Amino acid sequence: APLPAFDYTVFGGTGDLALRKLLPALYLRDRAGQVAAGSRIIAVSRSVLDLADYRKKAEAAVRRHVAADELDDALLARFVERLDYVSVNATSSEGWSDLAERFVGRGDEPVRIFYLATSPSLFGPICDRLKAAGLVTPAARVVLEKPIGRDLASARAINEQVGAVFAESQIYRIDHYLGKETVQNLLALRFANSLFEPLWNANHIDHVQITVAETVGVEGRGDYYDHSGALRDMVQNHLLQLVCLVGMESPVSLLQEAVRDEKLKVLRSLKPMGPEEVGACTVRGQYRAGAVTGGAVPAYADEPGIPTGSTTETFVALKLEIANWRWAGVPFYLRTGKRLPAKMSEIVIQFRPIPHSIFPGSAGELQANRLIVRLQPDESIRLHLMTKEPGPGGMRLRQAPLNLSFAETFGARFPDAYERLLMDVVRGNPTLFMRRDEVEAAWAWAETILEGWKTQQPKPYIAGTWGPSQAIALIERDGRTWHEDD
Ligand code: BG6
Repeated sequence: APLPAFDYTVFGGTGDLALRKLLPALYLRDRAGQVAAGSRIIAVSRSVLDLADYRKKAEAAVRRHVAADELDDALLARFVERLDYVSVNATSSEGWSDLAERFVGRGDEPVRIFYLATSPSLFGPICDRLKAAGLVTPAARVVLEKPIGRDLASARAINEQVGAVFAESQIYRIDHYLGKETVQNLLALRFANSLFEPLWNANHIDHVQITVAETVGVEGRGDYYDHSGALRDMVQNHLLQLVCLVGMESPVSLLQEAVRDEKLKVLRSLKPMGPEEVGACTVRGQYRAGAVTGGAVPAYADEPGIPTGSTTETFVALKLEIANWRWAGVPFYLRTGKRLPAKMSEIVIQFRPIPHSIFPGSAGELQANRLIVRLQPDESIRLHLMTKEPGPGGMRLRQAPLNLSFAETFGARFPDAYERLLMDVVRGNPTLFMRRDEVEAAWAWAETILEGWKTQQPKPYIAGTWGPSQAIALIERDGRTWHEDD
């Protein structure tokens, strides 16, 4: 369906996120014919830059981050024409009247969107100045990048400041994991099939594993990352959102607030951790020098911008519990880290063993069913089943996967998460964005861990391995193992 024209004003317009993700995503939507004539993208940052220079920078970024077969010189030229650039200082009055000028004579058509791809400490000040500049119309929208704050108090303060300028219905808090095809597919898997939902509870599920592994290090984002660490950067948002989609009850519909209401209940059911649980159920790690996919890489502490002696974690493994009727007693094992052996995200649902075996001598071969949702790369859903190994030699059992590969089945390109989400803002659909109460509930739980970590140094791990040995012990202690690819 054709979307209305928009004015996307991107604060942090020269930053990593804008160049690597936002501009390429907007270009790809433009290429797909979704960007209406008259739409503009107004990049804003403190740097003093010519429009021509900014356009060159933007074009180079799109060329670098979009696949070769999706680049089209004519379309790219048209896209670049939509770009404007304004130099604005978020914390002084400099540049705001230049920005306001861009909107003279434009009402709420095109859709007016302010995307804050900046440090969260600037969210409040930018909103105040947008208001003072008369730019906030009743239908304007603001998009906030994660992380919203660094703990519950700062998240609340930011939400208050932004909320004093924009109504909650105008605020889109982005968690790009919710825009990933395979993450949305969790809703289809669970609620468009009758097979799984009856088994989707503590009676039939032994445990759940969620792994979000990356091979990259801090990639020139040292300044941000060192103040954040893996728990704030990945667990409080992306991994908890995955927990929500796996754990939530069926929403009454996909409309309005229904999905967010259900996710909130999961977040509120997370069992808080006291200092003892933090010691027993969490592992924080930091990488030392090693090798990743064949290349030698330095230790975290030797990366540019990281102060010596930094105690920021680049890896987290933890065991959490959702304290409600559906999930009581079912551990969710989560792990995420930088400089791990592979870029790979997956969710593993481990079902309980069969109650009784009629296959004498096969006890060791009988493995309980496992459902593996591979989020990236090679998006797929695999269901591990026990089958008879072909052959005349009697009943020998073997585990084999039913394998739904999305590339093979659909052959289509998977849009990047930002493509979907940026257009959802234009559409005015907030379902895949985080509501204020969700963000705060997630912080309330994450904070119990941060509190417990105050006296805990991260454990070292060699870059290119699956984290500190304690992360393996965390799950093996319970008689379970992290899923390994077969
Ligand atoms: C971002 C984090 O939100 O997600 C990064 O700030 C991380 O540190 C990235 O690398 C991972 O996203 P994806 O889509 O590559 O899995």
